[in-house]
Amino acid sequence: MPNSTSDPRPPVDRTQPIRPIDQPARLDALERAVRERTDLVPVVALVLGSGLGGLADDLTDVVSIPFADLPGWPPATAPGHAGRLLLGRLSGVPAVVLQGRMHMYEGNHPGLVIQPVLLFKRLGARVVILTNAAGGLNPDWGPGTLMVINDHLNLTGQNPLLGANADSIGSRFPDLTDAWSKRLRARLHAAGAAEGVPLHEGVYVGLTGPNYETPAEVRLYRSFGGDAVGMSTVLECIAARWAGLEVAGVSIITNAGAGYTGEPLTEEEVLVAAAAIGPNLARVLRRFVGELEA
Ligand code: HPA
Repeated sequence: MPNSTSDPRPPVDRTQPIRPIDQPARLDALERAVRERTDLVPVVALVLGSGLGGLADDLTDVVSIPFADLPGWPPATAPGHAGRLLLGRLSGVPAVVLQGRMHMYEGNHPGLVIQPVLLFKRLGARVVILTNAAGGLNPDWGPGTLMVINDHLNLTGQNPLLGANADSIGSRFPDLTDAWSKRLRARLHAAGAAEGVPLHEGVYVGLTGPNYETPAEVRLYRSFGGDAVGMSTVLECIAARWAGLEVAGVSIITNAGAGYTGEPLTEEEVLVAAAAIGPNLARVLRRFVGELEA
């Protein structure tokens, strides 16, 4: 058992600063730990946010590694996040899947939050799909709306690329003009149409959480051009583009933004709505991945 009393390893300090230049050595250790267990080379990577964890059950020939068994990774604490790295085949395509993710609100340093995405690249993935649950800023969208992310606002006040750069991973000044791949967005829409699942498109606003927004903040982020607001994803996208991965993302809108309905927001409401619509998005993603190489 990892980190139990019989485990000689000290617990991971999730708050420890990790600079870009620290990442290659950490990724070496992570890659070794994965390669001790499987030689599968993924084409595609997925981060499964709230409501989508079940997609992991569709993997075949799967190798499952709890976060805490990977060097430098703490166990997951977020509700609805299993905290496992999985390698297997999804719709026949070699895939690496993060079932759950690391959030800033858990106290994780931004350099740790992005490590799964950097590891995906190390393992051979070329494409990453980021999913999440989010609040709706666009007043036309109700709970259960699925939004393909076409751009983002990083309002976390954080950046995982501060400090000495690791040129072996990516450039000092990554371009984010096409952060959210047009090619992959078109493929997501094609997969949605084929599955009869409506997909909208819009801008994701990323914050640290853990509180939900105030109504005034929701009005502000809407006026900034945001369509959905959540507590993840933006740092992962930045890191993926830094490392040269092609990125796509989908938000499950689980609730109207704070203040729109006059009712308070609860975590339970978010998880229930995500679980209800998650299977529809899972269908879209299975098809999307299966047709990726076509
Ligand atoms: N705000 C931020 N994060 C969220 C929300 C929200 O309204 N719903 C689900 N995740």
